[in-house]
Amino acid sequence: MTRLRKKKNITTRLKACSGYWFEVPVANRGAWRASCGMPEDCPLYLELGCGKGRFVLNVARRNPDACFIALEKEESVILAAIEAACAEGLTNVFFLCADAVLIKNYFAPAEIDRIYINFCDPWSRKNKPKRRLTYREYLENYKLLLSPNGQIHFKTDDDRLFEFSLNEFNAAGFECRNVTLDLHNSPFDAENVRTEFEVKFAEQGIPIKRVEAVRMP
Ligand SMILES: C[S@@+](CC[C@H](N)C(=O)[O-])C[C@H]1O[C@@H](n2cnc3c(N)ncnc32)[C@H](O)[C@@H]1O
Repeated sequence: MTRLRKKKNITTRLKACSGYWFEVPVANRGAWRASCGMPEDCPLYLELGCGKGRFVLNVARRNPDACFIALEKEESVILAAIEAACAEGLTNVFFLCADAVLIKNYFAPAEIDRIYINFCDPWSRKNKPKRRLTYREYLENYKLLLSPNGQIHFKTDDDRLFEFSLNEFNAAGFECRNVTLDLHNSPFDAENVRTEFEVKFAEQGIPIKRVEAVRMP
């Protein structure tokens, strides 16, 4: 009974913010900018696994001329991001409650200019590298959906995941640029926007690893 009520509550709250999320994202494939009311020539940026949205809301505020789409598979988590965008009246950030595995169904080839992957699950304990969002099969999908010279901006606290990801980026033909093993003590920190998890890791003194992987033509 409690679970049912909880679910109903989420549905009602999502409905109240209906302009900020897309229930049937396949309908926007190849037409995201128009569907979001943004100019056809604006950059389109996608965050995978946005959590409660701290990062995407901040980068959207800083870049009003770019269109931001944020994807998160947990409805109860993404709800916080959607409600925050709606309460603030942001006009350039939109959400999908969906699994990144299905990304090819949602976006057309070359439609996205940048993908952000922030602190994705390292899948280390269960030793399931194929589930990592930087596994090569995922990278092949991203490559297809990125525009020429499109980029993936990747951050993690996890040393093994970072090393694995650099190898995967290289193997998939991406060029790794601006690599840092300690983002918060690097020149790149001036432009950096911290995510929810990044704030927690920084408080624990864990260095943040970051790379920009560029899709080579
Ligand atoms: C460790 S949290 C990081 C959240 C946020 N990016 C941050 O840095 O604070 C990972 C998030 O990715 C989401 N996630 C994991 N796998 C996903 C997938 N395949 N598709 C969409 N979201 C996913 C999880 O539900 C979770 O909210």
